[in-house]
Amino acid sequence: MKEKIKKLRNYIFFKLYKVLISFEKFRNKGFALDILSPDFIKDPYTTYSTMRSKKPIYYSAPTFLYWVTKMDFVQEMLRDKKFSVDDRKYSIAKRRRRELIKDGREIMLDQFDNPSILKLDPPDHSRIRKLVSYGFTNRYISSLESEIKETINDCLDRTHNKDSFDLIDSLAKPLPAIVIAKMMGLPKEDLTQFQNWSEDLLQEVGGISSNAIQRKQARDAYEELIRYFEKKIIERKDNPGEDFIGKLIQAEEEGDKLNVKEMFGTCLLLLVAGHETTTRLIGNGLYTLFKHPEQFNYLKDNFELIPNAIEEIMRYEPPVHATVRFAYDDIIYDDKKFKKGTPFAISIAGANRDPSANKNPNEFDIKRENIKHVSFGYGPHMCIGAHLARMETKLAFEALFERFPKMELLDNEPEWGRNFIFRGFDHLQIKPN
Ligand code: HEM
Repeated sequence: MKEKIKKLRNYIFFKLYKVLISFEKFRNKGFALDILSPDFIKDPYTTYSTMRSKKPIYYSAPTFLYWVTKMDFVQEMLRDKKFSVDDRKYSIAKRRRRELIKDGREIMLDQFDNPSILKLDPPDHSRIRKLVSYGFTNRYISSLESEIKETINDCLDRTHNKDSFDLIDSLAKPLPAIVIAKMMGLPKEDLTQFQNWSEDLLQEVGGISSNAIQRKQARDAYEELIRYFEKKIIERKDNPGEDFIGKLIQAEEEGDKLNVKEMFGTCLLLLVAGHETTTRLIGNGLYTLFKHPEQFNYLKDNFELIPNAIEEIMRYEPPVHATVRFAYDDIIYDDKKFKKGTPFAISIAGANRDPSANKNPNEFDIKRENIKHVSFGYGPHMCIGAHLARMETKLAFEALFERFPKMELLDNEPEWGRNFIFRGFDHLQIKPN
C-alpha cells in the first residue's frame, strides 16, 4: 500500500512538472528549463546560454529555483555572506525534518542537524575547514605522486591484452577511490562496498529520475556509510595513527575542535566529494579530447600542456554543474527583492560559458589563455581537494597517452548520466589499439 501511494505521488509530481513546463514555455515564447528532457541531458549549455540572455537570475517554476548563470553574479553569490549554505536556518528545513522523521531516518536526521562544512556558514565552517585543510596541504598531496602513479599502473595493467576496456570501470572510478581510501586509512577490502554506497547516495543529489526505490537506496547507503565511519572512528580512538581519520581524532583529543558527529560528516563528505567528482573529470576530459582529435593528437606529443588542458576541460565540461545558496535574510539583489531562505541554483556550468568571462566560450581550446572557471567553486567553500584532483587527472592522462597513443573511443555517443548536479558518464568504452 505504502509503495502504491509513493508511486501515485511520483506520477502526480511528474504530471505537475510537465504542466509547469508547458506554462513556462507559454510565458517564455517557447522556452523552458526542462531538466528531464533528453535534449537538456545531452547539451545543457544551450539552455544555460538562453537563460543568461533572457535573465541572468532566471526563475524556473518547475524546479522551484532561481538559476544564476552569469559569472559576476555567481562569483559574488559564492563569496558574499548575504548567501548561505546552511539549509537548517530556513523554512525548507521543517519539510526536510518532517520527511526524514516520517521515513524513519534517525541517522540522517541527526546528520542533517550536524552537517559537514559544505553545509555550514561561519563561524563553524571556518573552524572545521581549518582542521580538514591540515590533511590537504599542497606539500602532502604532492608527496602522494609516486603512490598515485603506481595505482594508475596497477589499474591499467588489468586492461593488458584486452581488445577494449571501460575507462570508467578500469581507471576513472577505482583511482580516486583507492587514493582517498588510502589517505583516510581505510582497508582496501572495503573499497567496492563504499564505492557502491557512494554511487547509491548520489541518486538523491540531483538524480533526475530518482524514484522511490532509488531514494530508498540512497538513504540506506547514507546510513550505512555513517555507521561504517562511526565504527572506524570508535575502533581508532585509542590508536588514532597518522592518516586523515587519525588526524581528525587527535584534533578532537586536543581539546577544541571536532565532535564525533562532525567527524562522521567530514569523512562522508571527503569520501563522496573525493572520488565521484574526479571520476567524472577523467571521463569528461577524455571524451572531450576524443571529440577534438586534432587537439588530442597535439596533447599526446606535448605533455607540458596537460595542466592547461585540464583547466579547459574543467571549464568546458565541469563534473559539478551546480551548487545551491539561500538568501541569508530578506535581501535586495540585482534590484530585486528576495525573501530570507530563497534558494538559488548557482550554475557553475552556465557561468563558465558566460562570454563576459571567456571569449568564444563554446569553443574547446586546450591552448586557451587566462581560463576563467568556477568548477572548484569560489570563495570560502572553494574545493579543498582541487590540487589532488588535478594531480590524479594529469597522471592518469600521461599514463593513458604513454600506453595507448592510438586509443579510440568505441561508442561515439555514450550516454550522459541523468543527474543535473554531477555530470559525467557511467561507462566509456575504449579501444586501446
Ligand atoms: C574534479 C574534481 C572535483 C571537483 C569538480 C570539485 C568541486 C567542488 C566544488 C564546486 C566545491 C564547492 C561547493 C560549494 O561551494 O557549494 C567543492 C568543495 C569541496 N570539495 Fe571538491 N571537487 C573535486 C574534488 C575534490 C576532492 C578530490 C576532494 C577531497 C578528497 C574534495 C573535497 C571537497 C571538500 C571537502 C569541499 C567543501 C569545502 C567547504 O565547504 O569549505 N573535492 N568541490
